[in-house]
Amino acid sequence: MLDKTQKFAELKIDEKSIKVPVSKGTLGPDVLDIRSLYKETGLFTYDPGFTSTASCDSNITFIDGDKGELLYRGYPIEELAEKSNFLEVAYLLLRGELPTKPQYDDFCSRVTRHTMLHEQMLNFFRGFRRDAHPMAIVCGVQAAMSAFYHDSTDINDPWQREVATIRMIAKLPTIVAWAYKYSIGQPFAYPKNNLQYAPNFLQMCFSVPAEEYVSDPILSKAMDRIFILHADHEQNASTSTVRLAASSGANPFACIAAGIACLWGPAHGGANEAALNMLKEIGTPDRIPEYILKAKDKNDPFRLMGFGHRVYKNFDPRSRVMKQSADEVLELLGVKNNPTLQVAKELEKIALEDEYFIEKKLYPNVDFYSGIILEAMDFPTSMFTPIFALARTVGWLAQWQEMISDPNIKIGRPRQLFTGATHRTYKTFDKR
Ligand code: CMC
Repeated sequence: MLDKTQKFAELKIDEKSIKVPVSKGTLGPDVLDIRSLYKETGLFTYDPGFTSTASCDSNITFIDGDKGELLYRGYPIEELAEKSNFLEVAYLLLRGELPTKPQYDDFCSRVTRHTMLHEQMLNFFRGFRRDAHPMAIVCGVQAAMSAFYHDSTDINDPWQREVATIRMIAKLPTIVAWAYKYSIGQPFAYPKNNLQYAPNFLQMCFSVPAEEYVSDPILSKAMDRIFILHADHEQNASTSTVRLAASSGANPFACIAAGIACLWGPAHGGANEAALNMLKEIGTPDRIPEYILKAKDKNDPFRLMGFGHRVYKNFDPRSRVMKQSADEVLELLGVKNNPTLQVAKELEKIALEDEYFIEKKLYPNVDFYSGIILEAMDFPTSMFTPIFALARTVGWLAQWQEMISDPNIKIGRPRQLFTGATHRTYKTFDKR
């Protein structure tokens, strides 16, 4: 039946005119549905970096970049960070609704009972150099999971998809903690089922066999909050990478490994490590103006790490929660005159008042504060991005599940504007 409310945009190319349907979402801008454009006109669209392209439809996460709003399944991130916990948020992202108490208990119990790694995987860790970056280890071990858990690699079987999902949410903390333990030469600490998700992760990172480990509720809460704030962020680079990898039918462990590899870059998940390194390089507040000048200089590739975002043109809502968490953690740990924090606070103030940053709408993002908290907890900077990967695994899996259950799934295959040589004839060495 004809939908009389359907809107169309008209596109004129030379003498030809076509009607492009305008699709409406529940929130956010409408989109031009250009799926038949090539068939009808022989033209592609050109949009490097996908600045104006919606690559899929999704009902998981919504960002309003102008308002500085982030919703997981309709719930504001600030509310979830205050009232919920990471496993409940994981359930929400995966299933679309907050769990009832029995559903929540069942989910937590299933995740808790999958936290151990196949013992043979220990050898895999031991194959790495001790000075390997933990992201390299996490990415490698994650990819190797498909070799250890064959019984959950069939993407056409919903039960196997579910088992793979639970396995990854459960095992990523163990993988990330062990990558750290390996790098500092300490024995691997096994998961403990009597601990919740965040304290168990901290235990695996910081306990040693020689001493009893006592988890601190404030640090556990801060860790859990970092996980919640990083859990999903709609179609960012790593999530799009997971979707693209999955579109070929690749197994779920390989798809998440692809996401981890993409996340590592300094423009994405690697920014938290880069931001803290930058704060340390600046060193003292009196050197900030020099770095602000560098960031503004068109001929200098330097950027203020932890500032700016493709979507947020206002405060990143995650950074507000993270800032509050940073204050709580530093107070608990009695960190008052931390020079990195002083530089961070001063830099934030100066950048927010600077014309360049105001005009370009560059605000501190989530990575600006998360590094300060993680450093105060005693994590080395190299662990910041693996922790991001651990949390984002939930979002990647929710997006992967959504995509695989979509009957209209198609392999992702972008096209190009070719600007290279036209036809040439091969020449032998003596003629070149
Ligand atoms: N410092 C100085 N100038 C900047 C910065 C910055 N951090 N970010 C953007 N700009 C300038 C940029 O030079 C450009 O100026 P002009 O228009 O004169 O050429 C303008 O602002 C727009 O920048 P863009 O690169 O076109 O914007 P984008 O949407 O492609 O990039 C970004 C977004 C996050 C990659 C970028 O802001 C950046 O590199 N920030 C630093 C890295 C960072 O903190 N990344 C973490 C993002 S949040 C975590 C996550 O989601 O992964």
